[in-house]
Amino acid sequence: MPSAVRRVFKNIGELQTATGSVAVSGKAQGTLLVLHDAWILTEDGVIAAVGTDHAPEADDAVDCRGKLVTAGLVDCHTHLVFGGWREHELAMKLQGKTYLEILAAGGGILSTVRETRKASEDALFLKTRGLFLEMLAHGTTAVEIKSGYGLDLETEKKQLRVVRRMKEEFGDVKATFLGAHAFPEGMDHEAYVDLLCAEMIPAIAEEGLADFVDAFCDDGVFSAEQSERILLAGKRFGLVPKLHADEIKEIGGTQTAARVGAISCDHLSETGEEGIRALKDGGVIAVMLPATSFYLKKPYGDFRGMIDAGVPVAVATDMNPGSTPNLSLQFAMTAGCLYGRLTPEEILTAATLNGAAAIGMADRLGTLEAGKQADLVVWDAENLDQLIYRYGTNRAAAVYKRGVRMASGC
Ligand code: NIG
Ligand code: FE
Repeated sequence: MPSAVRRVFKNIGELQTATGSVAVSGKAQGTLLVLHDAWILTEDGVIAAVGTDHAPEADDAVDCRGKLVTAGLVDCHTHLVFGGWREHELAMKLQGKTYLEILAAGGGILSTVRETRKASEDALFLKTRGLFLEMLAHGTTAVEIKSGYGLDLETEKKQLRVVRRMKEEFGDVKATFLGAHAFPEGMDHEAYVDLLCAEMIPAIAEEGLADFVDAFCDDGVFSAEQSERILLAGKRFGLVPKLHADEIKEIGGTQTAARVGAISCDHLSETGEEGIRALKDGGVIAVMLPATSFYLKKPYGDFRGMIDAGVPVAVATDMNPGSTPNLSLQFAMTAGCLYGRLTPEEILTAATLNGAAAIGMADRLGTLEAGKQADLVVWDAENLDQLIYRYGTNRAAAVYKRGVRMASGC
């Protein structure tokens, strides 16, 4: 049997990592392992050991030049498969039109639905692949991708086949069926919920096209009752529930997420104390999306209240062509620190271990510990504070997946 390929990452100025294989909360979220003058030994793409004394001999060495090294970022909430873009909505936004007003006028999600229906699977794949390569260059090494710009079975399947091709090429990609993203134009709302539960979810699950099921539970979109029906239907077919909730108004989404046993509840910018308690009691991970709040000029949400209540907090980009045309999780981290008032340590956990847990990957990803996959980022920063502080330009200097260099950033 050929011996394992051993690679050592040496001369790490500061190594910062969360620890463990499950989502962490409360004080533990901000308690990291911090090593100076450190090294990481990998064998065949898996971390074999981490230390601070003399770096061990290996087949190959990477000199990290005294920089900060963290685990690869995990973006646990994106809408990365879509036709067209929506820069034409900028003028409407600047005139003060809200997100839901643009949607009600046939724009917003519905205009992306029209573009996505028109696009070929190959064109969508090339576009999604290009976006993910850009994310990799920004330090994101694993990603969740939602459908939801088809709102008919054929187009939703086309989007999810694109996600499957992404999985085949890059590995750590998870797929979420978000047929309940908006109501198709001209269709009775209850009839669409029936169609989702009775036909679309079974068909998608049967082809193994999704890991998770999600719904946009909010004012003017899917009610808490409709969302619950959809998530439970997904669960019956083996899909793990997630939920978009409290982005615009609290209408009971957190309680729904807790009741159905959702792995995460996402957005939560309007969530109050009762909602936070529901998440805590239900063991649901809160996925905060501060880059969305930034672009919609909306509240950021009570990140601190969640940490204090013992809810594990993750942070993601929500990358999509409407509310968040931003794929840098670095930017979301800085916004989460400043406006969510998390510490740099808490936000790093949110973007790595807790993000991985929110998509069921914390057993393999999210920390720099023996046994975990060697997904890591060498940052052009000397310490974690500097990474958060120098926002607005890409600070990822080199990005490694399974110990292999995938991208150079700045
Ligand atoms: O998560 N909130 C619902 N869906 C997306 C936006 C999608 C779009 O505007 O195209 C979100 O923000
Ligand atoms: Fe979203």
